[in-house]
Amino acid sequence: MSVTQEIKNRLDIVDFVSDYVPLRKSGRNYAGFCPFHQNTRTPSFYVFPETQTWRCFGACAEGGDIFSFVMKKEGWDFKETLEKLAQRAGVTLEAQQPGDQKKQAAEQKLLDLLDAAADYFHMLLLHAPEAAHARQYVAERALTEETQATFRLGFALSSWDACRNQFNDQGYDDADLIAAGLLTVNEEKGRRYDRFRNRLMIPIRDINGRVVGFGARTLDKDGIPKYLNSPQTSLFDKSNLLYGLDTAKRHIREARQVVIVEGYMDVMQGWQHGYRNLVAQMGTALTEQHLQQLKRYTKRFVLALDADAAGAKATMRGLQVARETLDHEVDVRFDAQGLVRHEARLQADIHVVTLPEGNDPDKLIRTNPEQWPELLAQSRPVVAYVIDVLVQDLDLGDAKAKTAVAQQVIPLIKDIQDPVERDHYWQYLARTLQIDERALRQVRLQPDKPRAAASSPRIVPPEPDVPWPEGAMPKREVRIRPLSNHLREANFLRQCLAYPQVTVQVNRLLQQMEQTAVAADDFTDMEDKLLWQYVMQTVETGAFVVGQDLCDSLDDPMVQHRVEALKTVPPTPLANLERLPDTLVLSVLQWRRDAINRQSQEIKQLVSVSQETDVDLLQMYQKQAYTLTLVKRDIDKAIASMSALNRRRIEESKL
Ligand code: UTP
Ligand code: MN
Repeated sequence: MSVTQEIKNRLDIVDFVSDYVPLRKSGRNYAGFCPFHQNTRTPSFYVFPETQTWRCFGACAEGGDIFSFVMKKEGWDFKETLEKLAQRAGVTLEAQQPGDQKKQAAEQKLLDLLDAAADYFHMLLLHAPEAAHARQYVAERALTEETQATFRLGFALSSWDACRNQFNDQGYDDADLIAAGLLTVNEEKGRRYDRFRNRLMIPIRDINGRVVGFGARTLDKDGIPKYLNSPQTSLFDKSNLLYGLDTAKRHIREARQVVIVEGYMDVMQGWQHGYRNLVAQMGTALTEQHLQQLKRYTKRFVLALDADAAGAKATMRGLQVARETLDHEVDVRFDAQGLVRHEARLQADIHVVTLPEGNDPDKLIRTNPEQWPELLAQSRPVVAYVIDVLVQDLDLGDAKAKTAVAQQVIPLIKDIQDPVERDHYWQYLARTLQIDERALRQVRLQPDKPRAAASSPRIVPPEPDVPWPEGAMPKREVRIRPLSNHLREANFLRQCLAYPQVTVQVNRLLQQMEQTAVAADDFTDMEDKLLWQYVMQTVETGAFVVGQDLCDSLDDPMVQHRVEALKTVPPTPLANLERLPDTLVLSVLQWRRDAINRQSQEIKQLVSVSQETDVDLLQMYQKQAYTLTLVKRDIDKAIASMSALNRRRIEESKL
């Protein structure tokens, strides 16, 4: 598989584009305002999860894959885009280096082992006679069989070497088991033993659903520690993982908010009751990486941490991180896009839920599930929450302490975008601290970390949050990207690389038929676009020898994979060379027609899920569909003239 393909497989274009454009589900696809042209009225920009492509049906009338999206959006070249996306997807670019391949193989082995271990523990929980008390425990925690299966709960035997033996027998050595965090070494005695013994095993999966570690709950009443987790390994890093995110991400996007809880049990109990947009920070502080991951799905965070002192502390810590992260993000991204100044835009909406004393979400949802949505609805904006927590134990007679509180809260108030709301919190703080509001506003802030100055922000009004129709699923299965086009494109490129001079003839023929010359836009995949550019450059500068296969002269590592794949397509035999231009032209016309058909189908699909009241939208589709018919008519004409030409040639050759 090529690197670009592997990257595409690992990154979801919907996730990805959501970072830049708020998207809403529309049937099977996602829609939003096109980020490439000025528009706030009609969402003309679509992302198609099935084909992992995007397209603007409005002014741009452009489309492509995740690579072309990023290149266009960030203004990066392919190399830079490839590097960034590879990093994000966790794909190693220089697979050529033997060391890297080894590393990848080692990581895969660990993942396989962890996955097998999750299965092993799960089977034990379900069936082992020794797991009776674990089964009873799970039942007491009111987790259904379905939930147990969804989260693949397991049981580790009360043994020092059961797990070790099990996997030694399967060909994993102790080094593998240690690297996976399943085996512990006692440095003093040099003894090795199973890390997890007599515990309820909770596999922890990364964002892509791969098991990377375990949280293991004691089954003894006051067992210590309550949860024993995997040690930090190359794969397991709590500051980078959110429990449940792999299953929750879809629901987070749908609910348009994420609820951050503390623990495994909270997530599972929530899931079981249909509250599925929950993720757990696993008892650690909320980190920048956590928020970065979540920001791919929503900008609305609700912190629902335990109602105890530790919970309040964690909340405060989390808030600080949230503010810094988003602030930072604002500096980088929103300015670049010319959006609003950064304070104004700390619009990522962070709310806090206060649970009734002594509760955690697990307990609350289990005993009183209907109360959960009510509580969420009562969640309070960050600022209000912070003020209350800080003021709770404050001696209002202590002027210094009051100033300290003001110092912490005022920056948050200044971050509030809405002036009315901002005023509200000035008043609220003044009232709570029993200080005159004017005096409060004059409090000089201690110097904070310096912030990057906004570089000439271009102010664009935020796009209105228009209601978006949630239509029914389209009835017909649409194969959006027929394989045949893929093959046509590959064959076309192969022949052009083998016989570069033919491209001149092809383009001349197309011109004669009033068709545009073949352009990078004709290709779907970024690599193909680049290859085509390369061919054209070589031809234009005359930098090729007739009879030389460009495949061999192309040592650009960016497209090397693609070139290797294309080499498996045989070049046209010399005997047929004369007919090659015609063949290729016909092929181009056919794939253009298929591409048009595909777009028409996409539009039909979109019409079927939009509502009749959406006049603008329907009009836009109509216009697009009409343009497509015209283009298609011209292509059909050209194809017809081709076959007439061919027939004549065949006749002539008979004479
Ligand atoms: P809690 O102590 O709130 O546990 O820790 P819990 O989730 O409510 O679990 P139950 O309901 O008592 O079984 C919250 C989270 O902190 C991490 C775990 O991720 C836990 O889910 N934690 C807690 C640890 O990693 N180790 C511990 O010893 C305790
Ligand atoms: Mn709990």
